[in-house]
Amino acid sequence: MKKQRAVRPYVICHMVTTVDGKIQLENLPGHSSVGEQYEKCHELFKGDAWIIGRTSMEGYSSSKIKSLGKPDPSIPKEDFVGDEKARSFAIVVDPSGKCRWDSNSISGDHVVEVLTEKVSTAYLKHLREKKVSYIFAGKAAINLATALKKLRQLLGIKRLLLEGGGIVNGSFLKAGLIDELSQLVIPIADGSTGTSTLFDVEEGYTRRRATRMRLKSVKTLPGGVLWLRYGLL
Ligand SMILES: NC(=O)c1ccc[n+]([C@@H]2O[C@H](COP(=O)([O-])OP(=O)(O)OC[C@H]3O[C@@H](n4cnc5c(N)ncnc54)[C@H](OP(=O)(O)O)[C@@H]3O)[C@@H](O)[C@H]2O)c1
Repeated sequence: MKKQRAVRPYVICHMVTTVDGKIQLENLPGHSSVGEQYEKCHELFKGDAWIIGRTSMEGYSSSKIKSLGKPDPSIPKEDFVGDEKARSFAIVVDPSGKCRWDSNSISGDHVVEVLTEKVSTAYLKHLREKKVSYIFAGKAAINLATALKKLRQLLGIKRLLLEGGGIVNGSFLKAGLIDELSQLVIPIADGSTGTSTLFDVEEGYTRRRATRMRLKSVKTLPGGVLWLRYGLL
């Protein structure tokens, strides 16, 4: 019998790293010039959505709204679409509902929260008021396969760019849900320990599950940046 491919978006992990695989670039010399190259490659992929972890989303979400209103038990813990017409999406994996929103859009991309059922109804009320979409992907822990299936079925997302940080990338890798890696390597060695890397999967050395990749292409970009593309096996 022919093996059926799960109905989920094609996932491309697109990231900038140092030569030692570090991704916290803020204080590194000359890091800002790679931003434009990163965005150009992002556009080339023609994704209909991008997804990041709750920590990485902090820079895009509201810093003004601190507290939520009262819980509303009439709000069911069911998926909610805040904009039926949206065609491009900015998605955050936010299991406990920590991100606050002033609006439901980031540069024209409709915001979608991936939640667990741990979140309060006060938080769901906040998201509904702002017309931010949300999907549930697990009771107490995120199930990424469920999340991807819903993103495809509910929002029609076919091509998803996974854009950090290390924890969310690592959890996709561990779940075997990355199809391709696009890595821009800047000619800098970070040299720190304990800072985020491209894939922060799990602690330890002997227990880890390594993932094999196939090199698809190598391109040199201005400033000595290497653009590596791999398919995951
Ligand atoms: N170089 C690049 O291209 C690039 C791109 C993006 C980000 N970054 C950098 O990455 C750093 C942040 O990375 P990070 O690894 O610390 O954080 P992250 O991956 O952005 O977010 C991690 C958080 O997201 C939630 N989360 C993600 N996946 C989850 C899963 N499978 N199950 C449960 N929760 C999940 C959890 O939120 P809770 O804690 O609320 O449970 C978790 O603590 C920043 O310094 C940022 O600048 C670099």
